[in-house]
Amino acid sequence: MAARPYVFVNMAVTADGKIDTVARQGARISGPADGIRVDHLRAGADAILVGGHTLLREDPRLTVRDSALMAERTRRGASAQPLKVGVATRIADEGADGGLPSGSRFLNDGGGDVVIFTTTATDPSVVAELRASGAIVSVEANDRVDLEDALTILAEQGVGRCMIEGGSTIVAALFAAGLVDELQLAIAPVLFGGETAPTPVGGPGFEADAAVSLSLADVATSDDGDIVARYEVVPA
Ligand SMILES: NC(=O)c1ccc[n+]([C@@H]2O[C@H](COP(=O)([O-])OP(=O)(O)OC[C@H]3O[C@@H](n4cnc5c(N)ncnc54)[C@H](OP(=O)(O)O)[C@@H]3O)[C@@H](O)[C@H]2O)c1
Repeated sequence: MAARPYVFVNMAVTADGKIDTVARQGARISGPADGIRVDHLRAGADAILVGGHTLLREDPRLTVRDSALMAERTRRGASAQPLKVGVATRIADEGADGGLPSGSRFLNDGGGDVVIFTTTATDPSVVAELRASGAIVSVEANDRVDLEDALTILAEQGVGRCMIEGGSTIVAALFAAGLVDELQLAIAPVLFGGETAPTPVGGPGFEADAAVSLSLADVATSDDGDIVARYEVVPA
């Protein structure tokens, strides 16, 4: 069995630690310079993974935008675009609430390969439609997707570096399972406030004596006033 990939989380947060507003509609947080940093991070990844709410509510592109970075990937024998990975317990019909929109950016933009991990809560007809669109769909008979198994499957498909782009629930589950190696936060000079606005690590939370320890590896600032902090996860 292949070992899991190196897993790094990248998220943009406000100065008050929020990753979206209370409206949860995918608010833009960091500045244009951070977009360039994220493009480089994506270009250095073999796969980019998002959780189900981010996938189904925002239909993210998850593509490398800079053609020079795409060319660099192909020069080293990789595909022009990293693999896109979505993890969702249940996916509804195309176009319905909780489903991907028709002409989905996630499924179509960039032409990269797509892998979806879901459960038997997704109707077989939806699984068939996703497969017909070219996605590789793994269906598990569990309440939720087993993230360690999913990462092992990705490693077997040649994924050595997996970038996680949120959201809060999937990132919490990955940390809780000890499956994260690195966290990068772009901290933007803006406040969203709101008790229910999501933070980078949601889920049920950790007791103080079970908190995840991080080691600060690097700090940089951007022209837009963002602070980019890179942490390595201290093994428990
Ligand atoms: N600022 C940023 O960088 C950034 C990046 C991405 C997203 N976001 C924000 O994050 C928010 C979305 O986060 P979210 O917490 O609502 O959702 P999420 O983490 O995107 O998605 C969680 C989904 O994953 C599913 N899932 C399946 N197996 C799982 C497992 N083993 N463990 C955990 N989840 C599993 C959950 O299903 P069930 O719960 O149905 O079982 C749920 O549908 C949005 O507001 C978005 O804008 C911000």
